[in-house]
Amino acid sequence: MSKHSQPNGTVDPGGLSEVLGAMSATLNYMAASGCRGFDCSPEHLHAVKRWGSPSETRPDDLRCIQGEVEICARCGLSATRNHIVYGEGNEGARLVFVGEGPGYEEDKQGRPFVGPAGQLLTKIIQAMGLDREDVYICNIIKCRPPGNRNPEPEEIDACLPFLERQLSAIRPDFICALGAFAARTLLKKDLPISRLRGRLHSSGNIRILPTYHPAYLLRNPDRKRDVWEDIKILMREMGL
Ligand code: URA
Repeated sequence: MSKHSQPNGTVDPGGLSEVLGAMSATLNYMAASGCRGFDCSPEHLHAVKRWGSPSETRPDDLRCIQGEVEICARCGLSATRNHIVYGEGNEGARLVFVGEGPGYEEDKQGRPFVGPAGQLLTKIIQAMGLDREDVYICNIIKCRPPGNRNPEPEEIDACLPFLERQLSAIRPDFICALGAFAARTLLKKDLPISRLRGRLHSSGNIRILPTYHPAYLLRNPDRKRDVWEDIKILMREMGL
């Protein structure tokens, strides 16, 4: 008798009975282990169908990293924060904006760039012909330094691995580094922002455009022209 022929003489070309036997054994095993059913909601079926596809693993990765950030106590800022500001936006974004760290309003709401500097950033994004939902927005550090002081090097060191993991989950083509802290940290160059801005840099597959921080623009509105020149470089490269 061939491998796929049945005792009654019928042929089982795809080995269907073997597959059904294996499925039955698996289901019996799961039932014996306490499994009482499956979630067959459209959301779960959609997720299961796309398991393993690169684009579908991104949101799961971001959720998983967020879970770790939410309980982080790697530095002293965990004792003074009200909310962690993880980041938000399009999880498959081509462009990620990276700021320094949460301010007063961000710490209160748990969302990045929602204070006065955030309103200016929103206008910059809209001037590019995009919405906040089209890009991803996050910071170098996830917790507000008391009194909005600059982040300490050890606070940046403690938090940076989270940002690096966020970026490898999102896999953007471009990053706009807002201000000196973001630019120096991402480019690993200890130069003034005035020397780093105005051109695209490369880090692996990502092109990084440093520019002045929106909070700096609120204090120095005459620098808005420079930022717009920088943003135009980005738009040209992105084909916007
Ligand atoms: N400044 C930043 O660098 N990040 C924010 O989220 C808000 C203000």
